[in-house]
Amino acid sequence: MAVPLQHATATPGSLLSQAAQRLQPSATGSISQRARELKAEGRDIIALSAGEPDFDTPAHVLEAAAEAMAKGHTRYTTVGGIPELREAIRKKFQRENGLEFGLDQIVVSTGGKQVIANAMLATIDPGDEVIIPAPYWVSYPELVTFCGGRPVILPSDAAANFVVTPRQLESAITEKTKWLILNSPCNPSGAVYAESDLAALAEILRRNEHVHVLADDIYEHLIYSNVPFRTLASVAPDLSERILTMNGVSKAYAMTGWRIGYAGGPRHLIKAMEKIQGQTTSCPNSVAQWAALAALEGPQDLLADRRRSFMKRRDQVVDALNAAPGISCRKPDGAFYVYPSCAGTFGKTTRAGVAIKDDETFCRALLDETGVAVVHGSAFGIPGHFRVSYAASVEQLSEACRRIHEFCAALRATDGR
Ligand SMILES: Cc1ncc(COP(=O)(O)O)c(C=O)c1O
Repeated sequence: MAVPLQHATATPGSLLSQAAQRLQPSATGSISQRARELKAEGRDIIALSAGEPDFDTPAHVLEAAAEAMAKGHTRYTTVGGIPELREAIRKKFQRENGLEFGLDQIVVSTGGKQVIANAMLATIDPGDEVIIPAPYWVSYPELVTFCGGRPVILPSDAAANFVVTPRQLESAITEKTKWLILNSPCNPSGAVYAESDLAALAEILRRNEHVHVLADDIYEHLIYSNVPFRTLASVAPDLSERILTMNGVSKAYAMTGWRIGYAGGPRHLIKAMEKIQGQTTSCPNSVAQWAALAALEGPQDLLADRRRSFMKRRDQVVDALNAAPGISCRKPDGAFYVYPSCAGTFGKTTRAGVAIKDDETFCRALLDETGVAVVHGSAFGIPGHFRVSYAASVEQLSEACRRIHEFCAALRATDGR
């Protein structure tokens, strides 16, 4: 007689891997999601929490994608990306960064995020250390921990424009250090490493031959000062065998949803990353690769127009935030974020009676009481601050700043004064 199968009730603990249990959801994603939910409930929300340009993908890129579909470019492609796109990336690295790569030193992935994930999966063994300057993009430490590595957080100082010093780097390196992650312009601080900053870090790296560098250049085209963008591999070409230079079309060309990122680096590393990609996602999206090709090879003057527009908004937001009681905001040189301090509001009470203890209570009360969504600084490793994305319309930004000002001006000392 057939005996019915007994299914043991699986507890989440027995199903989920330790790696999955270690992984935390993205704080920026959660806040943007909360803002969307509140909006759906009918609340008047201004979300300045997401990291994406509010511009549209350029028309010629859309046309290239439509043409790719019409031509039937809808099948699996070579794992590391179509040769045409890799050639365009090779030329981009040469033209804009002075870097020379062979096509077998370039990989295209599903967003810059997959490039970074593949690099970590390809290199991290349990206990390996990855030095991450703070404030940092939220995914770096999570990906390192997911791979069994140990993020070593290197806090940078607002007074030093959030740029880490060679001495700080040297003191963080141990024999277990595998990577340093350098992100310039930085999400969330907007800090830009000048050539002299990179040269000074390169000196330390020369003395530590086991340390590799992941240069995350995704905000390359969003710099507002006269300091030109430089990437480590061009400042220190002698270290190029230890540098993975990562970039993508998401931020520069307003193509976040197309999910195309890429990197150039040492052959053995690129090969290992491709192997992982081949067994996980096979290849990047075929149509999006043709779209990215059009972005890289097409007219580039739109970058300067958009940069000017972002710069105006940055200036508008910095001035308005500095006028709000308890807020202090430096003017960052790049990306589309500001990272002001809200420490001057701690110990005060909001109009609705909420005591502000830290950046998290500040951001939560701000969202609840004014509908403005920003991200608490502790999510990026430097508490006491918050991140504002100014990739929003001038009207939205001025209304958001007005609400922040009103919120701060209404704060009272907790004893009622
Ligand atoms: C610093 C940084 N690096 C990488 C990425 C990943 O970009 P994407 O995966 O859209 O190419 C982001 C996106 O927010 C970022 O802010």
